Amino acid sequence: MTYAIIGSGAIGTALARQFARKAVPVFVANSRGPASVVPLAEELGPSIQPVDLAIALAADIVILAVPFAAVADAVASVTNWSGRIVIDATNAINFADFSPAELGGRPSSDIIADLLPGARLVKAFNTLPAAVLASVPDGEGGHRTVFVSSNDPEAAGTFAALAEKLGYAPINLGRIDEGGRLAQFGGPLTVHSLMKED
Ligand SMILES: NC(=O)c1ccc[n+]([C@@H]2O[C@H](COP(=O)([O-])OP(=O)(O)OC[C@H]3O[C@@H](n4cnc5c(N)ncnc54)[C@H](OP(=O)(O)O)[C@@H]3O)[C@@H](O)[C@H]2O)c1
Repeated sequence: MTYAIIGSGAIGTALARQFARKAVPVFVANSRGPASVVPLAEELGPSIQPVDLAIALAADIVILAVPFAAVADAVASVTNWSGRIVIDATNAINFADFSPAELGGRPSSDIIADLLPGARLVKAFNTLPAAVLASVPDGEGGHRTVFVSSNDPEAAGTFAALAEKLGYAPINLGRIDEGGRLAQFGGPLTVHSLMKED
């Protein structure tokens, strides 16, 4: 199983930190090319593999950690995802006033899914502030929870296994248009950080 993080900003770095902690290899790509990811790899160790965007987009599981509005550009080169899993960590935000973007009532992940033909989309890693996501998720008698929603239960299960490998306790919210709405930006689960006690 190969993993990739698209984006090396606040969320991409937070997740890269967790992959490195558990020595799980992960490709990391951004818009500027692998050289710009090298300092992060030097800081976090050999699990972090700076690559070109095209290589990252070919991983078995691809995590989108780019601005919502940048997803179309980031994934434009992939015309068929062939059933691969894409984890949508984005939030659709109006940055002028930090309000939820107007999406005509559609879940933000449905709009992302339209950009990913043939992908199995999982919404996750989007509710925690980057600093919380970057902190150690396990230890001290518990595991930080992460919410997962997907229209594909098997993909949600695959994500849950990854989340557990990284030290999180996943909570399955069900379908994107049901539980997933609770976790999208502006929903009641936004920003809440829960710990599951061991
Ligand atoms: N920050 C938070 O606390 C937080 C919490 C939950 C969810 N989120 C969501 O997570 C996503 C990422 O947020 P962030 O705070 O990490 O943003 P960020 O710090 O601005 O980082 C964005 C990353 O996306 C990359 N990128 C932008 N356009 C790209 C493209 N076309 N192709 C490839 N890479 C591209 C950028 O590349 P370069 O490095 O080359 O510029 C950068 O590495 C957003 O959707 C945000 O709403 C953020």
